[in-house]
Order: sequence, then structure tokens, then C-alpha cells
Amino acid sequence: MIRARGPGRVNLIGEHTDYNDGLALPFAIDRGVTVTAEPGGDAFEVHAADLGERDEFAEPDRGAEGWRAFVHGTVAELRAAGYEVPPARLTIEGDLPQGSGLSSSAALEAALCLALVEPRDRVELARLCSRVENDWVGAHTGLLDQLAALCGTDGHALRIDFRTLEIAQVPFDLGDWQLVTVDSGASHQHAGGGYNERRAECDEARERLGLDSLRDAPADTDLPEPLNRRVRHVVTENARVEKTIEALEREDLEAVGELLDASHASLRDDYEASVPEVERTVAALKDAGAAGARMVGGGFGGSVLALLRPGADLSPGALAVTPGPGARRL
Ligand code: GLA
Repeated sequence: MIRARGPGRVNLIGEHTDYNDGLALPFAIDRGVTVTAEPGGDAFEVHAADLGERDEFAEPDRGAEGWRAFVHGTVAELRAAGYEVPPARLTIEGDLPQGSGLSSSAALEAALCLALVEPRDRVELARLCSRVENDWVGAHTGLLDQLAALCGTDGHALRIDFRTLEIAQVPFDLGDWQLVTVDSGASHQHAGGGYNERRAECDEARERLGLDSLRDAPADTDLPEPLNRRVRHVVTENARVEKTIEALEREDLEAVGELLDASHASLRDDYEASVPEVERTVAALKDAGAAGARMVGGGFGGSVLALLRPGADLSPGALAVTPGPGARRL
């Protein structure tokens, strides 16, 4: 029997930059998804313990939906990549709220992969997980969540350059400060919804600018709105990732808080990825004295990330998050 754990992730900063060849600074957290695999039998027997749901299949089926699509897709993509994946009895359980912007999807993909095979290379595996999400689940997400889940290490955030896929481990110690996530109460789903639409807008902007990626775009273009605003978000967000790393190096957490606020304003006004519940949650956290607060993940619902000064009270429902280990066999 093999047990594997895939962590959720929090992206400190660098949102909607991954599919634009940009920069991000995520970290794995200690909440996640655990998959237990017992090889044997003629078919996959899958038990999603937290949902009380089951699935059984001999061969992966393109028609699988919801959580089942992740399992069918992972088996199929692992086999297509040359891994041997014999049928197994799989149990999935976790302590990560779904649809809250903490990437339960990547946690599930990473845990499934490590329960089923010993990977040759983690970056290659992140790409494979991303194909599961794109081609089997229908969410045109980038590589942020999968790289954070698979390459995260305890006590570090990852500076990811999505153009080169170069990953640098950035020591991440907040001292007496705390990072918390608060669920806005508005659930989100990337397949459908605004996420795919934003991604298509970025592609259109890139094509009209005649660029390989928005990484090279100027902050102000002569594109019509809303495309100009979308580009401005991506360009300024990349710059905020670098500024956050510099602020962390000089242990200037007030500056990190200001950068989180600026990221949120850009996601709200330029990227238009906010919803009223998220705005209310951000406002409540700022009113309660947070040094910075912003939507985290794909937006259009999900969680808010807040940076709290030493001694600040945790608001009800807040989950303290610290960098934990990446995906692993237990
Ligand atoms: C979701 C996607 C990621 C990334 C973020 C936004 O979490 O899965 O690929 O695009 O949104 O930064």
C-alpha cells in the first residue's frame, strides 16, 4: 500500500502571470490531499472518502466529470507519458476546502501521481498534471499550482520564472507576523467562469501586440480596453513579485503588505477578477488592521490572503498558513 500527500498552495504574489510567461511566488501549505493506492484487481476502484462518492473504471473515460475527471485523466496521462499504471484501489481524502482558491485540484493531481508512480522529474510531472486539468477537466490553467505542490519545500516560497521554468527557493520566515487565508464564501470553478475568458483576452492582447508573451509587453499599450488593462495587470504584477522578494530580503513586511494591497487593486480594477464577497472579505480584513490583503488564486471567488502584524487577532474562520513540504510519499 502506498500513501502520497499533495499539498495545497498559497500564492504570496504573482497572480495570472503563469500563463503569460511571467513570475510568481507561491508556497506549499501543510493542508492537502492524501491518496492511498493498493495495486491489484482488473479495474480502478476509487473512493472519494470526504464526498462519500465512488467510481470504478477499467480504462480512463474522456466523459468523466467533476473529481472523477482528475482520476481518469491522471491515469491516462501517466500512461501516455510511458509510466506503467496497473489498476488499483484508490482512496482520496483531504483537509483542503474545495473551490476556495488553495488549489485542491493540484493537490489531488500531485497526490494521485505520487501514489501511482515514482516520477522521473517533478517539472515534467507538473506539466503532465496541467494537461490533466486542461484536457480532462477543461480548466485552461497554467503551471503555478502544480509546480508549487510538486516543488515546494518546507520554510520556502518558490520564485518561479514561467518563461524558463527556473525555480529558486526563497527562504520565507515571517517571524511574529502571520499570513492567513479567509474563505470569501463565494466558491469558484476554473472550467467555465471568468478564468478561461481572461486567459483568452491575454492571448488576444499578445497576438495583437505581435509578441510571444505578455512578459515583454509595455505597461501601457494602445490596445482597446479592456485588453490594455489586462496587459497592465500582468506587467505590473511581474514587477510586484520582484519587489516582494526584495522586501522579504530586507525583512520589510510593511512593504510586503503594501504590495499585497497593490496586487489586489490591480486584480480588481485592471483584471476585473473580483466579486462582491471577495471585496467584503478584503475590506473586513483591512478594517481589522491587516497590513495587506488580496484575493488569491484564480479569482472570481475563493479565498483572501492577509498579512497580519505581530499580536493581531485571527478573525473568525481565518486559517494561518505557513510554507510546508511539497508533495511526497508518506
Ligand atoms: C489558478 C490557476 C493557476 C494561475 C492562478 C492565477 O490558480 O490554476 O494556473 O493561473 O489561478 O494566478
